Amino acid sequence: MTYKTAKFKIVGGKALDGEVKISGAKNAALPILLSTILTDEKVLLKNVPDLADVKTSFKLLQDFGKVCTYDVEKGEAVIENGITNHVASYELVKTMRASIMALGPLVSYAGSAEVSLPGGCAIGARPVDLHIKGLMEMGAQIKLDDGYIKANAIGSGRLHGGHIIMDKVSVTGTENLMMAATLADGITIIENAALEPEVVDLANCLNKMGAKIKGAGTSRVEIEGVIKLHGCEHSVVADRIEAGTYLIAGIATHGIVTCLNTLPSSLESVLQKLRQANAIITVDGTSITADMRNRQIKPVDVVTAPHPGYPTDMQAQMTVLNALSDGVSSVTETIFENRFMHIAELIRMGAHLVCNGVPSLKGAQVMSSDLRASASLVIAGLAAEGTTIVDRIYHMDRGYEHIETKVRCLGGQIERFY
Ligand code: EPZ
Repeated sequence: MTYKTAKFKIVGGKALDGEVKISGAKNAALPILLSTILTDEKVLLKNVPDLADVKTSFKLLQDFGKVCTYDVEKGEAVIENGITNHVASYELVKTMRASIMALGPLVSYAGSAEVSLPGGCAIGARPVDLHIKGLMEMGAQIKLDDGYIKANAIGSGRLHGGHIIMDKVSVTGTENLMMAATLADGITIIENAALEPEVVDLANCLNKMGAKIKGAGTSRVEIEGVIKLHGCEHSVVADRIEAGTYLIAGIATHGIVTCLNTLPSSLESVLQKLRQANAIITVDGTSITADMRNRQIKPVDVVTAPHPGYPTDMQAQMTVLNALSDGVSSVTETIFENRFMHIAELIRMGAHLVCNGVPSLKGAQVMSSDLRASASLVIAGLAAEGTTIVDRIYHMDRGYEHIETKVRCLGGQIERFY
């Protein structure tokens, strides 16, 4: 019995009904944890989700010489100490591609870094050329050697400011370069920067550490380098993708679900699509409710796009909803070249795709291929008639905190077995 053999058994056909507390965002927690490389002072982080990728980030930081303590009950992490090692090993990087975001902080703080090239993953090749080009613009000397990216700040050992124009919008590319620029000598401009709320949350945390970042959340970010960053206390922004996932689960089962502790403005494009799907969506402060009782799911055309467009991380979940709608719809993925692997699994459950809605899905044995595809299969299982077995659910453990507990809070019938 290992975590790799874990499966979910889901008995579907029951309307979800209840409240679920949304956790801190995985895609904000990961860059923020790695940003602690930039200071040797204590950083206290709150609302840190209990996820496999967060645990991997702690291992990475410990490899660099940091001391990490994590209180699972409180969701609080304390990271302290300086850097004594600047190599991110393949063993860790292969399990979490976001490790690439250690490159910028390491070369900026320590003057050199060796980070294993992250492989591709199920959803695409996932190149990191924009990360490398941006660091070279800031004076880093980069070599690719034995599958490692070796970066050195030549000359004074300190990067210098640069004018970086990103060829494509890249979330972690923007975050990596923004972190590197905080300690560079001079001003760095990042044009065509990613606007995601997680980029803004990282900038807010860095500015609490003494960085001078302006324009985060717009396509032009300006960073004035400083000599040193100090410790800080920061609470990680709510996970908009987790919230969207549970709202769609409620809608797909014709139930009523309220997500607590959310940041509604961060998922406006999703809420608009859910209203188009005929859900009653109400926002009250940090709570969002989706009510689909006795309502028919309407088909909704979706084209994924960088924020504030419809997020690619919510594409698989919307595909399930369309599979249960009473009409024809189209789903277009523009960010990743291979993010439709959940389709074959949904067809095994009776879906007519290209998104011809069907009255119901049938439970089946299905297999997860990546983080968000696995979420879409859980939603499909909850909505389907009969029992669904979802295999390879370790993908989900990377990005959804305490999934079974949260689904059961909503009345869903789900259990993990090995
Ligand atoms: C981040 O990945 C997220 N991960 C992804 O979430 C998310 O799907 C993605 O942004 C898009 O929103 C984290 O934040 C840890 P990109 P990232 O760089 O930064 C191309 C999840 O499910 N590109 O914005 O790796 C790339 O191939 C994960 O939580 C280059 O060509 O994505 C893609 O087509 C999955 N060269 C596009 O840009 C580069 O150097 C956008 O990718 C970098 C990216």
